[in-house]
Amino acid sequence: MPLSVVILAAGQGRRMNSDLPKVLQPLAGAPLLRHVVDAARRLEPASIHVVHGHGAERVRAALPDPDLDWVLQAEQRGTGHAVLQALPRVPAGHRLLVLYGDVPLVGDETLRRLADDEGAALRILTVVLDAPRGYGRILRDPAGRVRGIVEERDATAEQRALCEVNTGLLSAPAERLGAWLAQVRADNAQGEYYLTDVVALAAAGGEAVAAVVAQSPVEVMGVNDKIQLAEAEAALRRQRARALMEAGATLADPARIDLRGEVRVGRDVQIDVNVVFEGQVTLGDRVSIGPNCLLRDVSVGANTRVYANSVLEEAIVGADCRVGPFARLRPGAHLRDQVHVGNFVEVKNSELGEGSKANHLTYLGDARVGREVNVGAGTITCNYDGQNKWPTEIGDRAFIGSGAMLVAPVRVGAEATIGAGSTVTANAPAGQLTLTRAKQISVESWRRPDKATPDAKAARIADALGSPREPGKK
Ligand code: UD1
Ligand code: CA
Repeated sequence: MPLSVVILAAGQGRRMNSDLPKVLQPLAGAPLLRHVVDAARRLEPASIHVVHGHGAERVRAALPDPDLDWVLQAEQRGTGHAVLQALPRVPAGHRLLVLYGDVPLVGDETLRRLADDEGAALRILTVVLDAPRGYGRILRDPAGRVRGIVEERDATAEQRALCEVNTGLLSAPAERLGAWLAQVRADNAQGEYYLTDVVALAAAGGEAVAAVVAQSPVEVMGVNDKIQLAEAEAALRRQRARALMEAGATLADPARIDLRGEVRVGRDVQIDVNVVFEGQVTLGDRVSIGPNCLLRDVSVGANTRVYANSVLEEAIVGADCRVGPFARLRPGAHLRDQVHVGNFVEVKNSELGEGSKANHLTYLGDARVGREVNVGAGTITCNYDGQNKWPTEIGDRAFIGSGAMLVAPVRVGAEATIGAGSTVTANAPAGQLTLTRAKQISVESWRRPDKATPDAKAARIADALGSPREPGKK
């Protein structure tokens, strides 16, 4: 039977106390719903239907995937009601897998077992908990067959001692599910149509119900409030940190790393504490990342060391480079191999050729820097005239003295030297020394002034700036 998936995502999530719809709350940098949609897609179903309602437009805008079928549930009357809204859109003869937009960590293997088409028509996902308080308990007969679900408030003491509970996720042939749902009544405390009631209806009708037991409580965790959101974040962090370590990375502390994107590592990569990864990050063999760094959409070549407190965004860093401490690589920064970028150096939309160095207090924006160039401390490419951005070109093996202002557009030729403190407004020829500063003089007759008396001081100020005014008077 072909498989279709419906994801329930219409609820407001009152317990979040947030203006953001619950399914858009961020987990590892992506909306909760994104995790569920991606998990659904890995099953390669024929169609994915998302039932949405609260914050409908925002939810749709946050997941612009063209292949999702959006079903509007204008009034949220319960999980059973939500599935009913989607059923007319599910192609005839399909098996339907129901996922919750707020249960984001279900594993692929578990979903595959739940969506399985062999055996019982109705398959429910259960989990064994040490402290099953608040959940419906799974009732089985002596042969182990599921007989029903008993809600905690209706359970006997003996039933309450059962540790296998209902997660709410299930799968069944769409038509059968529709028939059971048509019988569900909203005669409960919340006045809602509960999807979970189909289990009792199926069992009462003599239908075999298969219980698929989740591998861990973590994968069926529902995220209803900020505390559970933080718990899910920690669980996902542990999972992703484990995967990195399995790939060979050494983490100073797997609890102090944030993996909000996809990180690929070579061999013997070292990552210190409090490093945040976002987007797509690739770290080559033996790369080391110091403490407190942020890397977003970055690739780093083999043997490169990124030192403490550096921020790298949309940048490409070659092999054998040194970056930081306190370096900032902004979008379009491209460091070739063996480049050094040191403390308080900002690089934006600029390329630094092999072996070039900018070690201290520098801004390089819209610059093409050749090979083995030395950029002295405090150098600034003045790339912005208030209206336009202009490029700077620096040739191979040029030496830029400290404190140089390179007023773009401007070119410094190969092997040129710029004297410290120069403001360069015209091209500096290759191979020559270019200086733009005033000649140094020494004044032999100069003496330090004597300390002025208060009266003398007041007189001098009045002389220079006009007579002192009384406050409030013009
Ligand atoms: C639900 C289950 C409960 C299970 C728990 C596990 C029911 C009745 N209860 O409870 O047995 O233990 O999940 O996490 O199913 N939604 C809609 N439309 C609605 C109502 C809800 O789309 O009218 C969506 C919500 O956005 C959410 C999901 O369905 O993504 C679950 O709803 P929620 O209100 O969180 O149910 P729980 O009380 O957690
Ligand atoms: Ca929930």
